[in-house]
Amino acid sequence: MSSSSKERPGSRLEALFPLDWDLIRHAGAEPVPHHLKKWWFCLGGTPFYLFVVQVVTGIALTFYYVPTPEGAYQSVAAITHEVRFGWYIRSLHKWSGNLMIVAVFLHMLRVYFTGAYRQPRQLNWCIGISLLVTTLAFGFTGYSLIYEQLSFWGATVACNLAEAVPLVGSHIGYFLRGGPEIGENTLTRFFILHIGVLPTVMFFLLGLHVFLIRSHGVTEFEDEAVPEEKRFFRFFPDHVTTELLIGVLLMYILTLLALIFPAGLGAPADPTQTPPHIKPEWYFYFNFRLLKLTSLKMSVLLTMAIGAVVFFWPFIEGFLARWLKMPEWVSVLLGVIGFLGFLVLTVWESFAV
Ligand code: HEM
Repeated sequence: MSSSSKERPGSRLEALFPLDWDLIRHAGAEPVPHHLKKWWFCLGGTPFYLFVVQVVTGIALTFYYVPTPEGAYQSVAAITHEVRFGWYIRSLHKWSGNLMIVAVFLHMLRVYFTGAYRQPRQLNWCIGISLLVTTLAFGFTGYSLIYEQLSFWGATVACNLAEAVPLVGSHIGYFLRGGPEIGENTLTRFFILHIGVLPTVMFFLLGLHVFLIRSHGVTEFEDEAVPEEKRFFRFFPDHVTTELLIGVLLMYILTLLALIFPAGLGAPADPTQTPPHIKPEWYFYFNFRLLKLTSLKMSVLLTMAIGAVVFFWPFIEGFLARWLKMPEWVSVLLGVIGFLGFLVLTVWESFAV
């Protein structure tokens, strides 16, 4: 074939990949509802972006990290103080993880208070909650890998909590520790979970989440103030450009945070010396306060009960609305009470010594 000037730009590249390019072009041009121009409405893209930052920085950290009780703390210290730009990569990893949890919470609040979890999106809400749990599991396993005093004892408390789960608790505790005590096996397990199992689960769940978003479309809200022709905009390049700009802004914020609050390092883990004040990472303050207010068993039962209600909420709400004629404002009220309860316990624990 002669390289005639009639060829469409990019057609040679397309020929190399046997994909349905018309379908891809069609998906790219899909109209996006106008309200997604509001930053708080399209917060779902933020955790996605932060996850990508974590994958990239996490791969870089794995080149230097040693997952053994003797090597873990030393390798993190070397990354922080000796490896060129190690402190920066570690700080980006830490801050993107923390911001991802904030972003997922905010995204979840937006979905809840705009009622976007209702029919036909109930399943996507459940997948979202699984994404939240996976994100928290990333935070927990990652923090434990540092093997400093606080993270070691935090992991000890978490394994004790896991043991209090009815019926299967002792098996979960044993599985996580890799034996009766926290040690070499625990670190290997947390490492495999953190760099292998959880990323795989995350990719799988994200794929399902995005597939369902694309299948259902994003919730649409009638806004009389917006003229008809402006109620939708193009996914590509309009929405993609906005998301890319948000990405640049986030990278700037992450770098500022890394410079002002670089990832630190406490004392190395000492299994024989319980520190006077054990504290988990902030996103587990809620559970930690529950633990202090009740007992080990009760706090686990309460967490499981609350978790089950939140996970199945779209279905529970549907049932209550159909059979007990529960009005929508009750859901809003319950959401406000739940959110404030979470906030109060978290802030309370953050001020406690
Ligand atoms: C890693 C975490 C997550 C990522 C990357 C993510 C990503 C996204 C994206 C990109 C959207 C499109 C609209 C938007 O940007 O808001 C979306 C919509 C949605 N997400 Fe998430 N999400 C995550 C976690 C969650 C959680 C925790 C929930 C709720 C429990 C959730 C439930 C939903 C639902 C129901 C929709 C459809 C909303 C609508 O149609 O308006 N997602 N998600």
